[in-house]
Amino acid sequence: LDNYPYQINENGHLEIGGIDTLDLVKKYGTPLYVYDIALIRERCRAFVETFKKLGVKAQVAYASKAFSSIAILQVMKQEGLSVDVVSEGELFTALQAGVNPEKIHMHGNNKSPRELEMAIKNNIGCIVVDNFYEIELLKELLAKYGKETDVIIRVTPGIKSETHQYIMTGNEDSKFGFDLHNGQAEEAFLLLHEHEAINFKGLHCHIGSQIFDTERFVLATNILFDAISKWNTKYGYSPEVLNLGGGFGIRYTKDDQPLPLHKYVERLVETVQEHSDRLGIPMPEIWIEPGRSIVGDAGITLYTIGSTKHIPGVRDYVSVDGGMTDNIRPALYQAKYHGVLANKANHPSSSVVSIAGKCCESGDMLVWDLPLPDVESGDILALFSTGAYGYSMASNYNRIQKAAVVFVENGLDKLVIKRETYEDIVSHDLSYE
Ligand code: LLP
Repeated sequence: LDNYPYQINENGHLEIGGIDTLDLVKKYGTPLYVYDIALIRERCRAFVETFKKLGVKAQVAYASKAFSSIAILQVMKQEGLSVDVVSEGELFTALQAGVNPEKIHMHGNNKSPRELEMAIKNNIGCIVVDNFYEIELLKELLAKYGKETDVIIRVTPGIKSETHQYIMTGNEDSKFGFDLHNGQAEEAFLLLHEHEAINFKGLHCHIGSQIFDTERFVLATNILFDAISKWNTKYGYSPEVLNLGGGFGIRYTKDDQPLPLHKYVERLVETVQEHSDRLGIPMPEIWIEPGRSIVGDAGITLYTIGSTKHIPGVRDYVSVDGGMTDNIRPALYQAKYHGVLANKANHPSSSVVSIAGKCCESGDMLVWDLPLPDVESGDILALFSTGAYGYSMASNYNRIQKAAVVFVENGLDKLVIKRETYEDIVSHDLSYE
């Protein structure tokens, strides 16, 4: 399977985590998200162990926006990861999962008073301050509750990453963070640094997502250190923490060539160490926030194929029982995916078809031009690397229920999110008669 982390068994069926996907389909139906938890643990450990091996104090915070649910956050907790949340809902989920509040970091470019209040009341580990409005709110709320908090500030290093515009976050023209070049980051640093209820721990930046080369991270780190060096000279400042964000790329299609995760960690540590030595300041703790690289390729989606449409000389459309409601990424970012027929995983491909979703929307296409064996209604399509930003961005468009999620590990499967019912969907509707 071209290095994808799934297998084909002796029946010619696709397996994930040692389980036959067709058995999962029989048991749980489709569409179905399936996660290989052993692989997720392996990814977590690649980050955590590399920091340990290098003897660097670190926090690896799982970016829960990639896929948040009680079960997945319990896995992160078991692996000793911290959790990054960006909303009250994600914070609530992390608390419900039993994540230690001290290991929760809160992001957001427009945290509401309620969100900040919830963060403060629960004594979460760190608030990543994004803007001046938030600084004022934070001061008021800390005074109101007589609390203190650790903060880091999110800064925009002003570099562009080669990724889709919608998932680019570190460039200057961005809604996120304080600009490093126009003095706003320094102004925020001074405001927070001198406040008695605020423990200013350091700086954060996230340059974007699906990044494959380490040098963009090095570039961002260099830019952070330009500021640190200036603040060190002016104010004698040295950061306790540098959070370098997430964004490590994964393999969606054969064109994607990700690096082993330890390479990113090694390069980041090396860069921060060099700068710290040069400035004669202590090595800060390094925090990172991977989302996609932990859960992305550990997840697949299984669909049942229904109708097909042959347009001679033009294209074959093959429709599945899901689509943009369970995976908006192709429609939103022109994201590319690869997949196979799970029940014919060892058949050679015979033609190139395009996979359509079932929504009433021409843009509801999952894959344009996927080579597959002869397709028949009832075949099971497995789409690879759908573990990040699939379920978490799912919608009820066309009143389609959110799909179920199953974890597999040690030869066992376990339902961790139930399929929505139509009763669930109408449960918030009120009558107008
Ligand atoms: N930290 C911060 C501050 C972020 O903004 C993000 C992603 C991450 C960490 C995690 O990035 P990751 O390691 O997962 O690439 N919905 C889009 C991605 C949006 C990402 C936004 N921020 C997608 O489906 O590609």
